[in-house]
Amino acid sequence: MKIITVSYRLPLSIKKSKDNVKITQSAGGLATAVLSYSEKSNVDLTWVGIADFDKTTWENNKNRYDKNFEVEPVFLEKQLNRMFYNIFSNSVLWALFHYFPSFVEYTDDGFEAYKKANEIVAQKVSDIYEPGDIIWIHDYHFLGLPHLLRKLQPDAKIGFFLHIPFPNFEIFRILPNKVKKYILNGVLGSNVAGFHTWDNTIHFTECVEKILGVPHKNFIFSQESHRTKAGSFPISIDFDKFHEAYDNDRVVTLRKEIKELYEDKKIIFSVDRLDYTKGVTNRLKAFEKFLKKYPEWSEKVVFLLVLVPSREEIKKYGERKRMIELSIGRINGNMGNYKWTPVVYQYQPVNFNKLIALYTSADVALISPVRDGMNLVAKEYVASRKDLRGALILSSMAGAAKDLKEAITINPFDAEMIADKLSYALNMNEKEQEVRLERMQRYLKKHDVFNWATKFLNETEKIHKLDSKST
Ligand code: UDP
Ligand code: G6P
Repeated sequence: MKIITVSYRLPLSIKKSKDNVKITQSAGGLATAVLSYSEKSNVDLTWVGIADFDKTTWENNKNRYDKNFEVEPVFLEKQLNRMFYNIFSNSVLWALFHYFPSFVEYTDDGFEAYKKANEIVAQKVSDIYEPGDIIWIHDYHFLGLPHLLRKLQPDAKIGFFLHIPFPNFEIFRILPNKVKKYILNGVLGSNVAGFHTWDNTIHFTECVEKILGVPHKNFIFSQESHRTKAGSFPISIDFDKFHEAYDNDRVVTLRKEIKELYEDKKIIFSVDRLDYTKGVTNRLKAFEKFLKKYPEWSEKVVFLLVLVPSREEIKKYGERKRMIELSIGRINGNMGNYKWTPVVYQYQPVNFNKLIALYTSADVALISPVRDGMNLVAKEYVASRKDLRGALILSSMAGAAKDLKEAITINPFDAEMIADKLSYALNMNEKEQEVRLERMQRYLKKHDVFNWATKFLNETEKIHKLDSKST
């Protein structure tokens, strides 16, 4: 018995330049979480995803990617992949599911490409499937896949997990009818449909009831061929990995460097993919307000802002980048001086050790998405603070706010509130920092990524078994 995990992004990206071929880890929460599970679990696992490299590059480099799981890349034709990923997945589903209806750019061609890509991947998964395997489908790129696979492999155990919010009925209904039905019927092909929070689960079940007219009993939809159970499974992190990294030699050295560089200042830190859902423009506005309202912090604080390039071909991402950079320029120009740069900005990924060094140097982590399924960065910050120092400011619009109850929560649209909470967090005494972090760490240690995956996969087996028994 093996697990076939399916996601758009493979855990690795291969980029060719003039004189070398670089293998890097893919960015984002899905890759971090599923990779942590895949690397440490003792199950036989095959990861299917869309290649961002060509077949020859894969053949020449696959042996360099030495992991305890198999990788099965799907090679999509360029134009199809563009329509599937940039147009339908990211300019329709991502925007709408994050409550940005005005950003949606729907086209029928995009939807056709999405369906086609789902069909190609369904065939690939079906080809490597063997009876007894669990098929674990991830995220909004593959909403049609559970149904397609149910047709190809009627007895398969299929789990579907959505890594982004599922919107409420009023937002979801904006989609054309054929799209709504495709999505809902698609997900209902699974035995278990998992979401980050109960709110999302309820949104999904309401949409199924109102649009398809299929009722549920205790979140179980009974269909002719099988049952589908909808439920909440908040994703998490490899707590021990982030916690123990505090003492790693390289991290210690990097942290010392950062602390020395800003020795007379408090550090505010944030790291996100550059995405309009992450609330970076609001965050900068709030930081500017903070500097104006609390001038005593002038020259005594620095905001280290790391943004990881993401979806750069999509117009809204380019626009957001320009807005952010204008904002940073304005703050540094108006508030800073020749001795002090208030916002230090990097538009590049950071490796694991640097990430931990930054997390553990920061006096405050300021995480302000306007909408986020979970937000693993918030959990990583908390886990990495083995020293029990630092304060977390977290948007109540992130799924993580439901788990991290001792965070200082904010409304990401309320600049005044964020400014005040920044002042509070920067002045927080050590005892309060310890109490808050200790409680959140206790929670995360128990509810880690292994716990998340195990619960989800066990539930998939359990619900599948109910159907096998009754036939
Ligand atoms: N991350 C990354 N590359 C970086 C910096 C961070 O991949 O250069 C990771 C980070 O550690 C976290 C993930 O990206 O695990 C972001 O996950 P989150 O859930 O916060 O947001 P998402 O990007 O999935 O929307
Ligand atoms: C979020 C999504 C993932 C996606 C990641 C990175 O975490 O839920 O499905 O892989 O962002 O985005 P990208 O478009 O680069 O895959």
